[in-house]
Amino acid sequence: MSAAQKKIGMGLIGPGFIGMHHIDAVRRLGFAEVVALADHKADSARIKADEAGIPHAYGSPEELIADPDVDVIHNTTPNHLHFPVSMAAIEAGKHIVSEKPLAMDPDQCRRLRDAAKAAGVVNAVMFNYRGNPLVQQMRDMIAAGEIGTPVFVKGQYLQDWLTDDKTYSWRLDPKLGGASSALADIGSHTCDLAEHVIGSKIVSVLADLGTIVKTRYTNGSSHAFSGTQSGDLKPVEIAGEDIATVMLRFENGVRGTITVGQVLPGHKNDLQLEINGRTASLHWVQEKQNELWIGRYNAANAILQKDPSLMLPAAAKYAHLPGGHQEAWTDAFYNMVKAIYGWVQAGPSSPQPEIVSTFADATHITEIVDAMLRSNAAGNVWMNVEGK
Ligand SMILES: NC(=O)c1ccc[n+]([C@@H]2O[C@H](COP(=O)([O-])OP(=O)(O)OC[C@H]3O[C@@H](n4cnc5c(N)ncnc54)[C@H](O)[C@@H]3O)[C@@H](O)[C@H]2O)c1
Repeated sequence: MSAAQKKIGMGLIGPGFIGMHHIDAVRRLGFAEVVALADHKADSARIKADEAGIPHAYGSPEELIADPDVDVIHNTTPNHLHFPVSMAAIEAGKHIVSEKPLAMDPDQCRRLRDAAKAAGVVNAVMFNYRGNPLVQQMRDMIAAGEIGTPVFVKGQYLQDWLTDDKTYSWRLDPKLGGASSALADIGSHTCDLAEHVIGSKIVSVLADLGTIVKTRYTNGSSHAFSGTQSGDLKPVEIAGEDIATVMLRFENGVRGTITVGQVLPGHKNDLQLEINGRTASLHWVQEKQNELWIGRYNAANAILQKDPSLMLPAAAKYAHLPGGHQEAWTDAFYNMVKAIYGWVQAGPSSPQPEIVSTFADATHITEIVDAMLRSNAAGNVWMNVEGK
């Protein structure tokens, strides 16, 4: 980009926990600038914009979407606002980056997918774990045949932030978070990661869902990860799952399981993925993301350190530091944002970058979660993922 070229303008709607990481990642790019944010009220928007050094602050999504300096809109609102905010952005002809899940149910997702396609705008959903260098290493090793034919997968995403019955979040209210709780929130990441790494789609599922904490107590605060609440606590009945075990079948014949839970003491952000091939296995642990375990039956097992000089070239380009320099969650997040903005720069009709999840991809993930809910409701039976 020459100095005279205008930087790509980013506007963020929903400046909460994850929104601030979108802002950080876009600022790292150099060829984009954060020009505006919108919150649900003008005064809180102004405070947050001033704190983050952002020029324009709006009290509604509509005002931000209408800002002519905003080229790309990041939708980091609670789940129930994903559909109306993303649809309004698409209708205004803006590129759109949505947080996961794409929307509340498959129907809303399909409408967003189709509208984005018809409008010809760049559309992406933040399945950010794809951006990890060693996740790309796994994917490239599998594609190159380095583990033989993949046959089995074991995914898990375990957290403990909802263990205490005096913790609460808008995610637990089906009207704000959706019918699925843990599966939509973090099971979605696990399924997306498994599909991305294996290179095949999940076609059927058998799910067993549970709600361990059936009554929670809240003082009305609904911010995630804020810990035990105190004060005037009122009971809230919880319908959504906080644990789930799911068997999976993939289009290419791979079978496996995922386990998901948010009430599991000691597990913070414990996302893990193991793929077993006929000649080798790979196991990646998000909390130790600079290492990849390689298992073999006819040679010693090994740990591959995240070191660009030891990685396959296509994966090494996602590593920013030499071996021994630890990369982190924020670096993988940045890799995803960089790929999305590279697509914006190249133009929406240029090919979808390999690590980006589009609205079409994310619609499929919501269809998987929907099949899991149907499987559980039908008495834990195999259910096909229904795509339209
Ligand atoms: N990719 C990831 O790993 C990841 C991690 C966390 C959250 N998320 C997703 O990001 C989204 C937000 O989650 P969060 O944890 O940041 O929630 P949060 O509650 O911390 O933030 C939501 C923000 O939206 C704002 N908001 C509410 N109503 C609004 C409106 N009408 N207009 C504009 N802003 C409004 C709130 O004031 C708040 O600042 C969720 O969909 C969640 O699933 C993704």
